[in-house]
Amino acid sequence: MEDKTVKSVLLVFAMEAEAQPLIQALGLKEDAPPKILGPAPCLTFSGSHEGLNVHVVWNGKDRETGVDNVGTVPASLSTYLAVMAFKPDIVISAGTSGGFKAQGAAIGDVFLGTAVINHDRRIPLPNFDKYGIGYSLCLATPGLQSSLGLKQGVVSSGNSLDYTDKCMSIMEQHGVAVKEMEAAAIAWACNLFHVPLMCVKAVTDIVDGDRATAEEFLENLHSAAAALQSTLPRVLGQLAGRKLGEL
Ligand code: ADE
Repeated sequence: MEDKTVKSVLLVFAMEAEAQPLIQALGLKEDAPPKILGPAPCLTFSGSHEGLNVHVVWNGKDRETGVDNVGTVPASLSTYLAVMAFKPDIVISAGTSGGFKAQGAAIGDVFLGTAVINHDRRIPLPNFDKYGIGYSLCLATPGLQSSLGLKQGVVSSGNSLDYTDKCMSIMEQHGVAVKEMEAAAIAWACNLFHVPLMCVKAVTDIVDGDRATAEEFLENLHSAAAALQSTLPRVLGQLAGRKLGEL
């Protein structure tokens, strides 16, 4: 990959509660006229931070139910369209996640992704098995990781808040540290454009713990979003003006 200087970053969020704190803290403005036309449901916001052009795409709300468009399908659509619109040097999949205490995760931690996989695409046919897992490396950022003191690990995506025994065995095989619902789809779209991906994921619940996920998630969503918000500007500050190869 060409060692370009990082001048613009696109952050992809699934939930409004995850995106809003950063939009407010950086004073990002909704792009008007819109950079992405309907019927795609995503919304974009832009501004700058420490000389970096910062763009946010949020997947928007589902027309039928009014809830955030979480999961892999809207995430790949938003990423594809926003990468075309903004041509970022780096994409960041940002949001909340379930953490594995076996990999050192605790509520409120913010993890950097080393790689992404899918845990709910089980296709036991030649080559489709590998396609299903969709293992994809994240941009290596060892300097950034150590200077911000972030934990790191493999991020696994699937379209359910819970998991089956088979999902769990795939996550264990890959030493997954955080489980969420979008990163692998975002990686798929990034790979089409050869744009490097980082994942920054705050932990709302413990996957290998004993609490009900939905309850623990709702209880910690706002504190995890705050942890995410305090970390993301520091991540952006580390990227500004640096070369991809020196992160
Ligand atoms: N987002 C936050 N916690 C999650 C979990 N346990 N699974 C999937 N997505 C999540």
